[in-house]
Order: sequence, then structure tokens, then C-alpha cells
Amino acid sequence: MSDILIEKLIGEEEITRRIREIGQQISDDYAGEEILLLCVLKGGVMFMTELAKNISIPLNMDFMSVSSYGNEVVSSGVIKILKDLDEPINDKHIIIVEDIIDSGCTLSYLRNILEARGPKSIKICTLLDKPQTRKVEVNVDYVGFNIPDEFVVGYGLDYQQKYRNLPYIAKVRREYI
Ligand code: IMP
Ligand code: MG
Repeated sequence: MSDILIEKLIGEEEITRRIREIGQQISDDYAGEEILLLCVLKGGVMFMTELAKNISIPLNMDFMSVSSYGNEVVSSGVIKILKDLDEPINDKHIIIVEDIIDSGCTLSYLRNILEARGPKSIKICTLLDKPQTRKVEVNVDYVGFNIPDEFVVGYGLDYQQKYRNLPYIAKVRREYI
């Protein structure tokens, strides 16, 4: 393991097992419906592809890329859309698929933007949640794992754009953050 990583937090098999459960739950919750999985790039991509394979109802996928505006506005949660969805979402059941929820700023802002486009419903599905670091209330519908206030990488999550390809979740040493 690279020296910036301390230890494995969640193993590959555990992740796969949990994603299978969430996929089953989504398939049950939306039985008879069609859904749109909305991946928040780049972190959510591995989770979304694995999740999609475990959902048995008809679905579409679309991708969105967002970034924070700069330090001053991070706390207000204002984000910039770098890549918007390809298709309109009115009258669709949306599930936003994220890698991790930390302060909650990104998702609460994104949710507001998407609500304004008139979808039938919006739910949020995240692989990881750090409930202790929340600054803004966000209603999260599906959570893979709750984790403590640690900086983690792997399974889509990066540290300076690296480590997204690790098939497990690992902690980054405090002195590197
Ligand atoms: P927030 O919920 O608006 O604070 O931001 C969530 C975003 O911050 C996520 O989508 C990640 O891109 C990034 N992030 C937060 N915590 C971590 C972490 O532990 N590892 C890697 N990225 C993180
Ligand atoms: Mg993200």
C-alpha cells in the first residue's frame, strides 16, 4: 500500500455485497417504474456502474460534473455546473448517485437546481456518508456505509485525482490532507 494511505477501511467484497443490497432495494422501491441514475462525476462513476448492474428495473444513465466556486463560497454551497445532463429530467424519477457526502453543501445545492427542472421525484444515493461533518441538512435515501471523519480514497474517490482505481476504500494519513 502507498505510504500516504494508512489502512483499508472497507474491503472490496463488503462494498460489492452492500451495492447488491442497495440495487435490490431500489428495484423493489421503484417496481413498475423507470428511473434515471444521475452520476455526479467523477467520484460517483464506479459506484454507479456497479449499482446499475444490480438494478433489475429499466433505467437510464446520465452524467453531471460540478465544482465548488472557490473558498469563499464553499460554505454557502454554491456550485458551478461544469457538465450538465444531456437530457431534460421533467417527469422522470431521478436518483442522484454520489461517492460521498461530507458537508452536504454540494448535494443540497444540486438538489435545488434539479428540483427546479420538475422531475417526478428525486432521491439521493451515496456510497459513503460522513454524518458527523454535515453543515447543511440533506435528506439521503440510500447510504452504502457511514464512515467517521476521515479523508478516504478508492472506489472512485480521489486524493489529488489519484487512487480512484483502488477497488477498496482506504484512509489517507492526516499529515497529507
Ligand atoms: P460536500 O458534501 O459538499 O462537503 O462535498 C462532497 C464532495 O467532497 C464529494 O463529492 C467529494 O468529491 C469530496 N469529498 C469529501 N470527503 C471526501 C473524502 O474523504 N475523500 C475524497 N473526496 C471527498
Ligand atoms: Mg463527488
